[in-house]
Amino acid sequence: MATPVAGKGPFARTIVTANAQRGCFITLEGIDGAGKSTHAAWLVDALRARGRSVVATREPGGTTIGEALRELLLRQPMAHDSEALLMFAARREHLLQVIEPALARGDTVLCDRFTDATWAYQGGGHGVSKTLIADLERHVHAGCNPDLTLLFDVPAAVSRQRLDRMRAEGRALDKFEQEAANFFDRVRDAYLKRAAAEPSRFRVIDARRPLAEVRADLAHIVSGL
Ligand code: TYD
Repeated sequence: MATPVAGKGPFARTIVTANAQRGCFITLEGIDGAGKSTHAAWLVDALRARGRSVVATREPGGTTIGEALRELLLRQPMAHDSEALLMFAARREHLLQVIEPALARGDTVLCDRFTDATWAYQGGGHGVSKTLIADLERHVHAGCNPDLTLLFDVPAAVSRQRLDRMRAEGRALDKFEQEAANFFDRVRDAYLKRAAAEPSRFRVIDARRPLAEVRADLAHIVSGL
């Protein structure tokens, strides 16, 4: 029988079994309007169809505290560094309550946004200090990083058009979705730089293409997991 051992570092409270196979941590990223949420639902089904036990979750959110913080973050204007601090507070709860326990059980975690979003939105989009983000990242999840990140990439102008169409169809846009195209240009640029710096973790998916083509790419990625 497996011997229980205590996790190290910030996850010392997590008890894992010595021979339990750690689950796969997959994150989805992209600027607003890239179609990420539509693809997320399809991916969950595709992973489950392959027999994986999947925990689908999102950031900010995923816990009671995280969802309450999400309401504030997506609706209330606030200082940009406060935004980063609250994103990481939500993330800490999410890791402790949901992500780490699921990975320790061997589940696949599919998380709609994670720390790359803070680097892209707060760092790239709003100019929050890289030192602050790096410090928070180290404190909140040193040693627990995504194994695979799917970056749904569209130019900012395409994203702006899609969001404007949604607004015209009656969907209320949140604080970030109301940002101008040049904000999304900076966010996209930050995402692409991160993808270039870590090519083994990132898959950049051209999300301008028709749904079926994007899905074919995703099916290929899922089958290679
Ligand atoms: P999003 O993931 O786009 O959800 P939905 O598909 O329901 O609109 O919304 C989350 C927003 O939060 C998105 O605009 C990006 C923003 N965000 C940050 O600015 N920083 C972060 O660290 C995270 C996780 C999200």
